[in-house]
Amino acid sequence: MSGTTPKIRLRGVKKSFGPKKVLDGVDLDVQAGHGMVILGGSGSGKSVTIKSILGLIPPDSGVIEVDGRNVLSMNRRQREELNDRIGMLFQNAALFDSLPVWENVCFKLLAQKRIARSKARDKAAEILAQVGLDGSVGDLSPSELSGGMQKRVGLARAIATQPDIIFFDEPTTGLDPIMGAVIDGLIVDCVKRLGATAVSITHDMASARRIGDTAAMIHKGRIVWTGPAATLGETGNAMVDQFARGVREGPITMELRK
Ligand SMILES: Nc1ncnc2c1ncn2[C@@H]1O[C@H](COP(=O)(O)OP(=O)(O)OP(=O)(O)O)[C@@H](O)[C@H]1O
Ligand SMILES: [Mg+2]
Repeated sequence: MSGTTPKIRLRGVKKSFGPKKVLDGVDLDVQAGHGMVILGGSGSGKSVTIKSILGLIPPDSGVIEVDGRNVLSMNRRQREELNDRIGMLFQNAALFDSLPVWENVCFKLLAQKRIARSKARDKAAEILAQVGLDGSVGDLSPSELSGGMQKRVGLARAIATQPDIIFFDEPTTGLDPIMGAVIDGLIVDCVKRLGATAVSITHDMASARRIGDTAAMIHKGRIVWTGPAATLGETGNAMVDQFARGVREGPITMELRK
């Protein structure tokens, strides 16, 4: 390990919902300026992990640090200041239905008074272009968009403030393969050009290799493997390789049958 403080550090993070244990001691380090990809089966706790870092789901125990600071002991103002530097693409896009697309995209910029309302429509058009959408989409309501378009608007909203940490929860799910590759390129760009730290959840292995420097696999509420994303499929870890190759037979299947 290098001596530098990780951008994000989790130790022993646990979370149960009623009797259901979801996170059972998650340990994770994300280095600054890196792309981290989190893999794992459906319901394994990937979204809950990200939401716990964001402060949306308080863990039952454990440590979560950003830039070496314990986020769980922050007061509301400190937490808000931190979240101002974090962008998030939710798994279901989670757009505000009552607002037109342009206002969704510029929501944080407007809330933080970083741009004038009169400039927001043009600014939104600029950001929408980066995710392959025409500026005229800005005047539509989220309910008028296809699923893939909603995803891209969610992505535009996540990057609008040029945050230094960005969470992408399944950024390419529901997109066609070409748009998926475009979005991956955008994520890589955010990480490399803006120097952001990106944590992405994905089921798409081609995407994982493109956007991840490092990958981590979560299984039964713990991180069971971390390593270079480029090695996915031939890591030598039977569970990770089974997942990456999407084959039925292997350690994960055997556990499902029990
Ligand atoms: N707010 C909540 N209240 C109760 N249970 C929850 C809540 N959020 C998540 N869970 C449960 O925690 C478990 C993990 O959920 P999570 O959304 O993290 O899965 P995931 O790994 O992101 O799966 P997927 O790949 O399907 O998105 C699930 O069993 C889910 O039902
Ligand atoms: Mg999820």
